[in-house]
Amino acid sequence: MTDNSPLLVEIKRLIKSTGPMPVWRYMELCLNHPDYGYYVSRDPLGREGDFTTSPEISQMFGELIGLWAASVWKATGEPDVLRLIEIGPGRGTMIADALRALRVLPPLYQSLSVHLVEINPVLREKQKATLAGIRNIHWHDSFADVPDGPAVILANEYFDVLPIHQAVKRDSGWHERVVEISASGELVFGVAPDPIPRFDILLPHLVRMAPAGAVFEWRSDAEIMAIATRLRDQGGAALIIDYGHIRSDVGDTFQAIARHSFADPLQNPGRADLTAHVDFQALGRAAEDVGARLHGPVTQGEFLKRLGIETRALSLMAKASPQVSEDISGALRRLTGEGRGAMGSMFKVIGVSDPNITSLVALSDDAERAAEGQPA
Ligand SMILES: C[S@@+](CC[C@H](N)C(=O)[O-])C[C@H]1O[C@@H](n2cnc3c(N)ncnc32)[C@H](O)[C@@H]1O
Repeated sequence: MTDNSPLLVEIKRLIKSTGPMPVWRYMELCLNHPDYGYYVSRDPLGREGDFTTSPEISQMFGELIGLWAASVWKATGEPDVLRLIEIGPGRGTMIADALRALRVLPPLYQSLSVHLVEINPVLREKQKATLAGIRNIHWHDSFADVPDGPAVILANEYFDVLPIHQAVKRDSGWHERVVEISASGELVFGVAPDPIPRFDILLPHLVRMAPAGAVFEWRSDAEIMAIATRLRDQGGAALIIDYGHIRSDVGDTFQAIARHSFADPLQNPGRADLTAHVDFQALGRAAEDVGARLHGPVTQGEFLKRLGIETRALSLMAKASPQVSEDISGALRRLTGEGRGAMGSMFKVIGVSDPNITSLVALSDDAERAAEGQPA
């Protein structure tokens, strides 16, 4: 049941005064409204929250990301100052595990300046607690505020929370999907009466051929272009991990998650996580368009195995009790496996780098590695 929460009242007021609201605007209000947005008011992570992410499943995830960051430091020529930037760092678990792994390399560890881009004040406090005692760490409201310099940029489950547009194919063309108010006063989906002018010419060929009724989703390229432009001009690499598809395609993936279950995205606005799958082809194309180099995609399972997660799991299990050993092996299955609840193939990984970095550890395919004389 929907109650008349302040955000629902506000959304209905906006629709009544300015007309049906595009899905992206609805998603933006639900997630980022300055007073009632989902991501400005709570810690959504963990068993007590709405969802669990890879860093919260096992320390192995962040540790391996730390080792990956070390390989970028080398590929960038071991700069005196390396900015380690995480966008949307959750509870700070991944960056804490990565930093612990990086302590074994003192020249790198001492060169690090850590930058966390986070809009959520509740999570910022958790990050401060998780990272207490670590020097040279800074928080920012926006990626644009991070000081210049070569960087390793990390984003795990960040792009899926960026608002999407949806368009529905009709005989008359592609129409923007909107949220409106039904005769009985409920929020419902609808479509804008006029098609989006010349939309077809912007679409990948397969999407253009989709039958009537198909839904196409897209996001603003602003964020990925800002990341790619920075890397092109200042050096370094980004690692983007998320659930999504390797090829741009049609499909309605707009979803709400509350208490670890799917919910109706139009019920209880601001109280459930709203997400949509990431279109990795679109991300990669936008990064290449500004002159950065794209690496991957590979599945999360493949990426973590190439980084040595199985060996790391065995070494942790060798020192653990039978119960903890069982937990480690369960975490390994969940992070790298397939099927229900597993993240190994549903999640994909891409790297974006300065164009002078021709390969990135665990993201280049075997042929590329062989051509460059590097071990597989
Ligand atoms: C799904 S959580 C992922 C958290 C973390 N990366 C993890 O894997 O556990 C999304 C994160 O992005 C943050 N976030 C959401 N919108 C943001 C924005 N516009 N700018 C910066 N951070 C944002 C959230 O507060 C949260 O930390």
